[in-house]
Amino acid sequence: MLSRKASQITPSPTLAIDAKAKQMKSEGIDIIGFGAGEPDFDTPGHIKEAAIAAINEGFTKYTPASGIPELKEAVCDKFLKDNGLRYSPGQVVISNGAKHSLDNVFAALLNEGDEVIIPAPYWVSYPELVKLNDGKPVIVETKEENRYKMDRSNLESAITDRTKAIVLNSPCNPTGQVYSREELQEIADVALKKNIYIVSDEVYEKLTYGGAEHLSIASLGEDIKALTVIVNGVSKTYSMTGWRIGYAASEPKIAAAMSGIQSHATSNPNSIAQKAAYTAITASQDCVEEMRQAFDKRMRYMVDRINKMPYVSCIEPEGAFYLFVNLGETFSRQFRGKPVGDGNNCAALLLEQYRVAVVPGVGFGAPDCTRFSYATSLENITEGMDRLENFLKELV
Ligand SMILES: Cc1ncc(COP(=O)(O)O)c(C=O)c1O
Repeated sequence: MLSRKASQITPSPTLAIDAKAKQMKSEGIDIIGFGAGEPDFDTPGHIKEAAIAAINEGFTKYTPASGIPELKEAVCDKFLKDNGLRYSPGQVVISNGAKHSLDNVFAALLNEGDEVIIPAPYWVSYPELVKLNDGKPVIVETKEENRYKMDRSNLESAITDRTKAIVLNSPCNPTGQVYSREELQEIADVALKKNIYIVSDEVYEKLTYGGAEHLSIASLGEDIKALTVIVNGVSKTYSMTGWRIGYAASEPKIAAAMSGIQSHATSNPNSIAQKAAYTAITASQDCVEEMRQAFDKRMRYMVDRINKMPYVSCIEPEGAFYLFVNLGETFSRQFRGKPVGDGNNCAALLLEQYRVAVVPGVGFGAPDCTRFSYATSLENITEGMDRLENFLKELV
C-alpha cells in the first residue's frame, strides 16, 4: 500500500504527450519539438573544462553538505553585484538543482496543512512540491489582460490564518512575464502586513527581453528580505540543466534548517558540478548574453507569426524561453469532422497530424493555453510555425 503522500501526487499531464513525441521521434518521424524546458545550447566550453580539471585534480569526494565555501562566496558576490543583496555564505545552501532547493525550502517552512499561495499559470512542480512537504497549495487565478500577474486584491483574497508562504516566479515559466518594481512592492506590502514568507524563484533572471529588467523582491528592503527565500541556479542561465546545481539564500535560521535537511536527504551536490558552477558564475558572462540574444530573436519571430494566425494569440514574453499561446478559440472548431474539444486534444492533433510537439496548459493551471518553448533553432521554429498555421487553416 503506497503512502497517502505518494497517491496525492498528480502525474504530469504533459508526460503522455511527451512520451508519444519521443516515441515518434525514435521511429524516425520528423517531429518539431516546442516542448523543451531547457536551453538547446551546449554547456559553454570553459565550464566543461572546469569540471574536467576538477576530475583530474581528484576533486571527487564528499564536500560540505550545503556546498563548497568558494561556490557559496561566489553566489554571495553574485547577489551583491546583480541584485544589490548582501548575504553571508552561511545564508546560502547549494543543492541538486533549483527544484531541490524548492523542496528544501518547503521542507524547512511547512507544517501539515500550512497553505502556500501559488499564482496560476504556474510551473507544474510547485503544487506537487508543496503537497510532498505536507502543505496545501492555494491557487490564485490571474488574467491574461493583467499579463497573468497576481496583484494585491487577488493575493489578499487568498490569504487565511494558515497562509505560510507565497510563491513568486519572475520571469515566469510558463507565461514569460516579469513583475515590475511597483507590482513587487504591492506583494511585499501584503506579505509584510501578514507576516508571510515569499519563495522567490528567480531561475530565469538573466533571460529578459525588450527592456524588461528582473528585480528580486528581496531587494525592496531589509524587512521583506528577511521574509524572502530566493531560489536560483545555473541550469537555465548557463545551459547546465544536467549538472544539477541550484541554490537558495535566506535568513540564517532557514538556511541552517535547509542545510540540516539536505545533509540527511542527499549530502552534498555533486563535487565536480559545484566546481563547474563556480566557473560559470565567476567567469565572463558573455556566453549568457549570446544565448539571450538568440532567444530574443526567436521569440520575436514566433510572436509575430502567431499573432498573424487565426484563432490563436499570445502576449509578448518579457523573459524565460516560453510563449504561452491562447488556443481556446480552436476548441469549438472542427478538425476533419471532429471537434478539437480541449487543450490536450488540440496538442494531440498537432502531434499526430502535423508532427508538432507542444505542452498543453492544463498542467500549468491554464487549460485554454499551450506552452511553446523557443529553446530550439530558428530553422525548426520556422518549420513548426508553418505546420501550426496549416493546422489552423484546416479548422472550420
Ligand atoms: C520556474 C522553474 N523553477 C525551477 C526549475 C528547476 O530548475 P533546476 O534544473 O535548477 O532544478 C525550473 C525548470 O524547469 C523552472 O522552470
